[in-house]
Parts: sequence; structure tokens; C-alpha cells
Amino acid sequence: MKTRIFHPEKENNAIEESAAILRRGGLLGIPTETVYGLGADGLNEDAVLHIFEAKGRPQDNPLIIHVPEAGWLERYCEDVPEVAYRLAEKFWPGPLTMILRRKKIVPLRTTGGLETVGVRCPDHALTREIIRAAGVPVAAPSGNTSGRPSPTTAGHMIEDMDGKIDGIVDGGPCSVGVESTIIDLTVTPPRLLRPGGLPLEALREVLGEVAVDKAVTGKLKEGERPRAPGMKYRHYAPKAPVTVVIGSPERSAAWILGALGEKAGVICFDEFAPLFEGHLVHRLGAAGDKAAQARHVFDALRTFDDTDVEEIYAQCPDESGLGLAVSNRLKKAAGFHVVDAGSGLIFGLTGGTGAGKTSALQALEDLGGVILDADAIYHEMLRADVSLRQDITASFGDVFDENGVLDRQKLGSVVFADEAALAKLNAVVYAHLLPEVARRMAGHDLVGLDAINLLESGMGALCCRTVGITAPAELRVRRIMARDGIDEDYAKLRISAQKSDDYYRENCTDVLENRADTPEEFREMARQFFIDLIKEEQQ
Ligand code: TXA
Ligand code: MG
Repeated sequence: MKTRIFHPEKENNAIEESAAILRRGGLLGIPTETVYGLGADGLNEDAVLHIFEAKGRPQDNPLIIHVPEAGWLERYCEDVPEVAYRLAEKFWPGPLTMILRRKKIVPLRTTGGLETVGVRCPDHALTREIIRAAGVPVAAPSGNTSGRPSPTTAGHMIEDMDGKIDGIVDGGPCSVGVESTIIDLTVTPPRLLRPGGLPLEALREVLGEVAVDKAVTGKLKEGERPRAPGMKYRHYAPKAPVTVVIGSPERSAAWILGALGEKAGVICFDEFAPLFEGHLVHRLGAAGDKAAQARHVFDALRTFDDTDVEEIYAQCPDESGLGLAVSNRLKKAAGFHVVDAGSGLIFGLTGGTGAGKTSALQALEDLGGVILDADAIYHEMLRADVSLRQDITASFGDVFDENGVLDRQKLGSVVFADEAALAKLNAVVYAHLLPEVARRMAGHDLVGLDAINLLESGMGALCCRTVGITAPAELRVRRIMARDGIDEDYAKLRISAQKSDDYYRENCTDVLENRADTPEEFREMARQFFIDLIKEEQQ
């Protein structure tokens, strides 16, 4: 069969012709705001059978029907409760499917043998026009092959359905990106069967109490049956196994960084993508932008399939708002293989010499924090990490002496004269150091990460806050003269070679200025400062 692709914005008769396909019992890919659907006349048993065949979908998995307005509800549903109209008034057209009692006119083939039927009015003007022109309710599951991620562009639908159906209407990329929220109104209290494009919170505002079906948040046990039959099937699954990592965004990023194998792919929030350089990465959207995450989640799951990735790790939003739908899709893709990276706080500390970083770290330790010294970890790795040593040798020649100790002068003579070489050294070192630092953070509720190159190395992304410790230059000069027994000129020279306070003000999330007369005084200041930061983070 040749599948015709309609471009309604360019073709005059596209709506009429695609409606005609539906009227004569054909199969039509239709755009909606959630995902593309595989549509057919929902009252025509033969047409509906073809949907199941084209998708490879089990026959007991019911289809939802699409209508152009709430006025059509009573044509297909019995005893429509008043609350259904209230929901329609508020949320239709939109990503909400209501389960209601079916009228006999809706065939059991459509409802998978159930006495109920799911109805939805999609928020896509073109598709509503096509349905109106066809004059029939359009049964439409998501337009993917059964088990694959749902299509959010016409291109995805073509991937799965080209040659199997009569036509596909290209209505642009889907604006929501996850399927509709399904609410069962035939039970008391109403029950959420599938989280989707309409947040549960919005439903609760209208309905009051809403129960949440077990299949939404966890894997069902052998023999347990979800109320939405489709929720029992392995779904959205890429070919490579998926691990979903929950917890605060920094912690989940750190966990993934510490666990990542060579042939691993990553689904992450935009901010963390640079951490995973060298791996195949799909961005979900910013950590705080769940609407973007919803739009991208299926695309991210889908595109790994053309690659040689052997495992996939995914960051996952919390479950409020659209996060419930995004996390449900990710977790289903993972077969509910979920790891909790926790939500403990990591504070990164940086700053020039003599500013007071050591006292600030002690303050954090006083509060129960574990201190990780990136420089010390690096030196430990130089002695003990064979792959780091190999990579350094591969790029810079034999810079370890016969006892295996790094000859700093030899390495220094190469990299300090040559910016590109220094950048290369940093890249090699950071690629080893970051995962090690990430692994050492694991399990701690409060960590102070001490790193001169906190921001340049990318380690800042592992921290909920990056704190620059600054101090007036004349104070720093006096402090390091006293501390290191050096003269004023040399102290000034050392400070002038370091970053300015402005650098920290511009690049850190927070700055703590040290004008205290004594280290003890500053330690107390820093303690208060961290208590406030912790409170802010825990809100
Ligand atoms: O956003 C959407 O809902 C998309 C677009 C195309 O409208 N459609 C969609 O359909 O996601 P589908 O078939 O992929 O998912 C519908 C889900 C399935 O899990 C199915 O088992 C459940 O709804 N369902 C359908 N009718 C039902 C009923 N009468 N009772 C309980 N669950 C039902
Ligand atoms: Mg589906």
C-alpha cells in the first residue's frame, strides 16, 4: 500500500480527502497536541480491526475515540455524569481522556470488549476539522508500532507506518509530546489510569479526591491487572536496557557520571549535557522545564535505536505537574528499573589563595559535611589510576619516572609553554577526575567539594551551589605572607596570577566575602552562611 502524506497547509483538499479515507474505513495518521494517532472510523469494526493489525496491538487493548466537541459525548456514552461536562468545559480541547459507559453503537472491538469507552477531544484544529468532515468518531491509539515510543512528529509515524496505512496528515510536531491523561469516571472516587499531558493536580482541583492506579507508579506483580489494559504492556522501550535515576538533578547527574560505561547513552537535562561529552546524549530540556521534557521524552527514547548504544541512563524529573507523566514514560521504558541517587546537598567551594576557602570548608564540616578535596583526589589518582596514567602518557610521552612518580617539571615544560597542550592535559585529567569525584559523593547527605578549578573542570554541575570565596586583595596579601612566610612582592605576584573576584561574582551561584580579622571569625560567618544556604535548598 502506498501511504499518502498530506500537507494541509499546502494542499487545498487535504481535509476533505483525509476525511474521505476515514469515511470509507481506511487508516489515517492524525496529528494531535499529545502524540500522533493512528485513526479509523471508531464505529466500523473492520476499520478498527485494521488498526490493531497495523500496530501489532493485542486485541484486548481498547482504543479511545476522538470527537470534535463535548456535544458528541452523548452519542457514544451512557449516563454521562455532570462532572464529565465540567471537565470538558475546562480542559477540552486538550490532553484529557475520560472513561465513560459506552453506548451499544460503539463496537466491543473498539473497546477491547469493555462496557466502557475512552473519549477525548484533541487540541489540534486540523484534526477536529477532519473528524467533523468525516462525521464519525475517530478511534485512534498512538501511531507507533506496538511497544515502540509514541510518535511526536509525522516523520516518526512514517518510520513506523509507511506502506501499512492509507495516509498520514502532517500537522507539525506535537506541542505536548506525551499522551493524554486518562481518568476513569465510572468509579468513585475517579481514578487516574494514565498520567499525561494534563497534570493530576489540575484534575484534583475539579474533582477533589482522585485515586491513582497502581500501574502509574510501579511495576505490576505477576497476575495483577491495570484498569487501563494498555498499561500492562512493556512500552516505549528502546532496544538497549534503560536505567532511570531519580533524585535531585545534580545527584542523578553525578550518579550517572560515576556509573557510565563506554557504550552508554544518556538522557539528561540540558544543563548536564557537557558532563557526558563523548557519549551519545539526548537532552530532555532544562531541569526546571517539564513541558520541554514532555515534548522531548519520546524522541529521546526513540533515537537510540539506530545506534550501537548498549545501555541507557536517564535523569528523571520529580512527579509534580507534568513530571508525573514524564517520569512514568521513562520508568516504563526502563521496566521500572529505577535507582535513587538521593537529594543530599553538594556545595562546591572555590576561590583564590588567602581568601579563606579552608576555613569555609571547616565550617561546612562543623555542620556534618564530608569534605572532598579535588586536588588530593587527583594526586591520589596520579599514583594509583592506571588508565589516567596511560592517557597522560599517550598524550605527553614518558612523564612518569622509574618509580612511577609524575615528573612535574617534565610535564610542566610541555604544557606551560603551550596553551593547546595545557587544554589537552586538563581535558584528559577532568575526564578521569569527574567520575571519581562523583562516585565519592555517593551516599553523603552533605558534601563540601574543594576545587580550585571547580567551574572550568565542569565539576560545578555536580553541585547544587557553587560558592566563590573572595577577600580584598590587601587582606589576602597579609594572610599569605603570614601563612607561607613570603615577602609582600611575591605574595602580590601570586595573587595577581589568580582569578579576580569579579570572576567568582560572575560565575558562581553564590559568593562569600571574607573581611574577617581572624580565621575563627570567618569560620563562624561561613557557618551561618551555609546554614542559610541549606535552608534555602531544603525549601
Ligand atoms: O493522547 C492520546 O491519548 C493519544 C492520542 C492519539 O490521542 N492516544 C493514545 O492511545 O495514547 P493509546 O491507545 O496508545 O492509549 C490509550 C490507553 C491504553 O492504555 C488503553 O488500554 C487505555 O487507554 N484505554 C482505552 N480505553 C479504555 C477503557 N475503556 N478503559 C480503560 N482503559 C482504556
Ligand atoms: Mg500508545
